[in-house]
Amino acid sequence: MKRFFARPSARRASIQPGTELASARASCEPALARPGDPAPVRIAHLTDLHFSSAPESRYPSGPEVLRHAVSRLNDLDLDAVLVTGDLFDDAESLGPEIPVFNSIMRELRHPWFAALGNHDVEGEHADRRKLQLIESLEDWGLAQAGQPFYDVRLNPGVRLVVLDTTDTEDAHYLCWRGFFSQRQADWLGRVLADASDEVVLVALHHPPVAPYPLMDSLKFAAADKKRLAATLSAHPNVAALLCGHFHLAGWQPFGLAHVLTGPGLIEFPHQFRTLEVRSSDGAIRFDTHIVPVPERAVRGTERIRSYFFGRLSGGRAGRIEMVEGLWAATS
Ligand SMILES: [Fe+2]
Ligand SMILES: [Fe+2]
Repeated sequence: MKRFFARPSARRASIQPGTELASARASCEPALARPGDPAPVRIAHLTDLHFSSAPESRYPSGPEVLRHAVSRLNDLDLDAVLVTGDLFDDAESLGPEIPVFNSIMRELRHPWFAALGNHDVEGEHADRRKLQLIESLEDWGLAQAGQPFYDVRLNPGVRLVVLDTTDTEDAHYLCWRGFFSQRQADWLGRVLADASDEVVLVALHHPPVAPYPLMDSLKFAAADKKRLAATLSAHPNVAALLCGHFHLAGWQPFGLAHVLTGPGLIEFPHQFRTLEVRSSDGAIRFDTHIVPVPERAVRGTERIRSYFFGRLSGGRAGRIEMVEGLWAATS
C-alpha cells in the first residue's frame, strides 16, 4: 500500500497538499460535514482525455481542453484528482505526446492519479507501453507503484484502489474490451482485506456494467466481470467504482456498490465529476462541472459527435450512502 504524500519526486517537492489544502478547506463548509466528523475527502474524477497535440488528430481540441480543465481544477478545493484512462488518443504516439501532456499537468496544484485505458496501450507489446507510461507519466500513482494497478490511502479512512482493465495477462492488448485478470483479483483481495475498516473507491477504465444492455457484454469480458463481482462481494466497504470509457455520464448498481461512469472530458461540453467522501460512514456526494473552453477551440464535427453522448448521459449529481446495510444511490 502506498502512502498518499510519499511520492519521492523533485518535480512535486514544492507542493504540500496537506498544508495548503487544509487551510483552503477551512473557509468552505463541506456539504457532507457533520459535527465531530473529519472533513470529507474531495476528489475530482476526469476521464477520457484522448490527448493528442497532432493537428490532424480526431480530437484536435485536446490540449486546449486540458489546459482549461487544469485551470478549473486549480480553482477547486481538492485532495486529489483521478484520471480513469484514455489519457492519450493514440498509443503509437506516446513518445512525443507524454512530454507535452506532462508540461500541461505540471500546472495542476493537486496530486493526481492515473488509471490506464485501452487507447493508452492498445496494440502488440502493450506491456512496453505500460512501462513507458509508468516511467514517464508524472502522476503520483503509477511511478511510485511501479505497476499499472495500485492503491493509495487518501486519508486515514478512505482508500483509493486503481485497477488496470487492459491486463490480459499477456504482453499484447489487441482489442478495446475490459479485463480483470486473476492476478489482479488475488492482489485486490489482499488490499481489500487490509482496508476492511476503510471506505474504498475502486477506479478502473472500463465499467463492468453498461447503461444499455447491448454495450454490457461488448465492453467487458464476461468471465472477468464475474471475477470482479466475486472479488468485491465480500467487501461491503467498497462504496463506488469510478469508470470511464463510454464517454457519457451514468450510474448503475454493481453488486453491493455503485458504478459511476464519468463524462468523457474530450466530449463537448467538456465535463468532469467531483466527489466528497465522508470517511466516517462512506457517504458520497457527487456533482458534475463544465470546463469552459473558448468557442474557437471546438470544431463543429466535435460538437455533433458529442451531442449523442450528451443525449445518452444521466446521473450528473447525486448521493450514495449506506441505508440498512446496503449502498443506496439517489439523484
Ligand atoms: Fe475513450
Ligand atoms: Fe476507452
